Amino acid sequence: MSQSIRLQKYLAQCGIASRRKAEILIAEGRVSVDGRIVDTMGVKIDPEVQNIFFDGKPVILEKEKIYILLNKPVGYVTTAADPQGRPIVTDLIGDIDERLFPVGRLDLDTQGALLLTNDGELAQKMQHPSFEVKKTYEALVVGKPKKKDLVSLEKGIVLEGKKTSPAQLVVIKKFSASTLIRIIIHEGRKRQVRKMFAAIGHPVNRLKRIAYGSLYLKNIPEGSYRRLNKQDLKKIFKNISLQMKK
Ligand code: URA
Repeated sequence: MSQSIRLQKYLAQCGIASRRKAEILIAEGRVSVDGRIVDTMGVKIDPEVQNIFFDGKPVILEKEKIYILLNKPVGYVTTAADPQGRPIVTDLIGDIDERLFPVGRLDLDTQGALLLTNDGELAQKMQHPSFEVKKTYEALVVGKPKKKDLVSLEKGIVLEGKKTSPAQLVVIKKFSASTLIRIIIHEGRKRQVRKMFAAIGHPVNRLKRIAYGSLYLKNIPEGSYRRLNKQDLKKIFKNISLQMKK
């Protein structure tokens, strides 16, 4: 919804100057609205539809950047909308009005750590293969895989004509008919973990991502989320060497 505000207030909100100082800048003829200098006080503008310039540069209100870590339940799709009407991950975000986008995706039948943000630059970088964000999963697989098969997954196997990059695997627990395995991968190919285990004859029964990069789910309950704190952000921005914004 668009809203009109006083020009000097808008300049102050955008961090150009205090309201008082902004009035002086306006009087000096340094501010234009839709290409015309405004040097009188009291002019109201609508920043959603009008172009405001100060000293020839656009004045844009930076939206607050929001980052959350969601524990996605099974049965939710990781898209902004679903033509089939299934529940989508953003249905779980109650108290945030901003439009958030998932960073990467988890399958409908996978549970676990999903980062959501309105920071498009960060989202793009984190998904780019060159940043090799590590993803940590716990997979409950059918049967008892042999050591040599787990080693082959660690080294990389050919899936759909392309070798997977090195992975790390640790057996966490052996049950009578299944095995719980922690696997860390750095790629994000479609259903990659499931395909890797299926390729060695041990399909995945249950898959949970316990960490995305340095962000561990820890005690976030299924279906809940937490906002990332300064420390989390410092870590992820450092890892992908982006300038951290306030
Ligand atoms: N690998 C999979 O098989 N599924 C996911 O959701 C994520 C990684």
